[in-house]
Amino acid sequence: MQRALQLAALGAGRTSPNPLVGCVVLDAQGRLVGEGFHARAGTPHAEVQALRQAGERAQGGTAVVTLEPCCHHGRTPPCSEALLAAGIARVVVAMDDPDPRVAGGGLAQLQGAGVEVIRGICAAEARALNRPFLHRLHSGRPLGVLKWAMSLDGRTALPNGSSQWISGPTARSWVHRLRAGCDAVIVGGGTLRSDDPLLTSRGQRHPEPLRVVFSRGLELPDQARLWHQAEAPTLVAHGPEAPADGRQRLDQAGVERLELPRCEPAALLEALAARGCNQVLWECGPALAAAALQQGCVQQIAAVIAPKLLGGEAARTPLGDLGLVDVNQAEPWMLQRLQGLGPDLLWQLNAPGPS
Ligand SMILES: NC(=O)c1ccc[n+]([C@@H]2O[C@H](COP(=O)([O-])OP(=O)(O)OC[C@H]3O[C@@H](n4cnc5c(N)ncnc54)[C@H](OP(=O)(O)O)[C@@H]3O)[C@@H](O)[C@H]2O)c1
Ligand SMILES: [Zn+2]
Repeated sequence: MQRALQLAALGAGRTSPNPLVGCVVLDAQGRLVGEGFHARAGTPHAEVQALRQAGERAQGGTAVVTLEPCCHHGRTPPCSEALLAAGIARVVVAMDDPDPRVAGGGLAQLQGAGVEVIRGICAAEARALNRPFLHRLHSGRPLGVLKWAMSLDGRTALPNGSSQWISGPTARSWVHRLRAGCDAVIVGGGTLRSDDPLLTSRGQRHPEPLRVVFSRGLELPDQARLWHQAEAPTLVAHGPEAPADGRQRLDQAGVERLELPRCEPAALLEALAARGCNQVLWECGPALAAAALQQGCVQQIAAVIAPKLLGGEAARTPLGDLGLVDVNQAEPWMLQRLQGLGPDLLWQLNAPGPS
């Protein structure tokens, strides 16, 4: 199962809306004869790949899979049937698939056909691996990661607005890798106006994550790097009150627009889940970051702290008002990892409470 989990992780950032899945096939004598992982939605599932490699040696053997095999006809035929057709005698899974189209049905079908089923092996690791997928299934929203870079004294820009670059090149490359693991990267209109960001993974993910601009007023620049979409797609999301001229300008520029029922982070994430996003990155400024946090749209924080002092009481900080009136209302986030990135320090944290 450890090997199957390693294989599953090879698909990281590319399988959405599907989960990461890895599979190894052992022959009747317990020798490893096939390996596979799910590389991308629409391509063969891990089990099918491993079975192909194993060929006839799968007969009477064992399939070890990180997730319950599917039993529904999606873009590819059901893996439960492929396992039966290959003559697999035993299936070992780390966890059941909570997708309502499967939800125990895959294992029930296998058991009904006389296959021995063992479940729950390395279940915690498997759940951690597929946290974004599981979060979307349970909440109807992609898992949200909020990222910011700030000085040691907690500033994200000088009072005059100058902000590039607070962190060093190592931290910035790490952010490109972080983007590569996300299906969409979100900024607000203010960040687009002040930073003209590019928001790509610099080629580390194919296709690049969807770049999303969230704006109420659609007063967006005519020229912006995000409007050049040869490298990566861009979507502008807005609410019902967005002015007609702003909509028209975007339509004329060939930028996709999405009208949400409400101009709120939660509504945006629900729309992105419907488009198949399992994980999104908030790379926005303080106003939108605070709104996203308040609506439960952030499950992880990645904060890069540079050993620089920017000062200035009027300088920007990562977060706008969270509506707290007592410091004791602020629950501690749970440290997941501390890592040096050149001269900078990366804090990765999980939200307090159940995810
Ligand atoms: N250091 C860092 O890591 C980092 C990262 C990102 C940004 N920044 C800095 O942050 C500054 C921009 O800050 P900002 O607060 O204006 O951030 P922002 O990312 O532009 O978000 C605010 C904008 O989001 C849009 N929005 C849509 N719905 C919203 C809602 N429900 N609640 C709040 N906003 C909503 C609005 O756009 P419209 O105004 O278009 O309607 C609003 O002005 C820039 O100076 C940038 O350099 C720093
Ligand atoms: Zn399958």
